Amino acid sequence: MTLKLTVNGKVHELSVPPQTPLLNVLRNDLALNGPKYGCGLGECGACSVLIDGMAARSCVLPVAAAVGHSVTTLEGLSHHGQLDPVQQAFIEAQAAQCGYCLNGMIITIRALLNHHDDPSAHQVRAALEHNICRCGTHVEILQAAERAVVINADLRQEAPHE
Ligand code: FES
Repeated sequence: MTLKLTVNGKVHELSVPPQTPLLNVLRNDLALNGPKYGCGLGECGACSVLIDGMAARSCVLPVAAAVGHSVTTLEGLSHHGQLDPVQQAFIEAQAAQCGYCLNGMIITIRALLNHHDDPSAHQVRAALEHNICRCGTHVEILQAAERAVVINADLRQEAPHE
């Protein structure tokens, strides 16, 4: 069976069983290794992607469920060589130890900023509540996330108004 999947703005035709986890398709068929396999149970967040701008856990999502939607992976966040403000903030804050969880942290904050222009520190913390960092780098990750909110707001102010 052939499925049409839109990932990072590109349509892919894939011959995969419809129940295949989206994560497997992204990594194995499309060579998009931003999303990571962590728990495989929908609990750690390492495999997160955006689906129509909302964070979703691709390890527990059958690929068929993503058909007809727009999937964005970590690789698709930058535009014209310009990093997403969230990526920029995590680099500036050097908020990684091993880095395995960062895909999920960045995708989760991107999803938050997609729906809240100016989230509070409480909202940032709540958004990341179910993302696990095994190194215990949560303090730096929260600092990076709050930096992302600031960079995002600055860019919004600089953007030309229509
Ligand atoms: Fe998907 Fe942990 S690998 S939530």
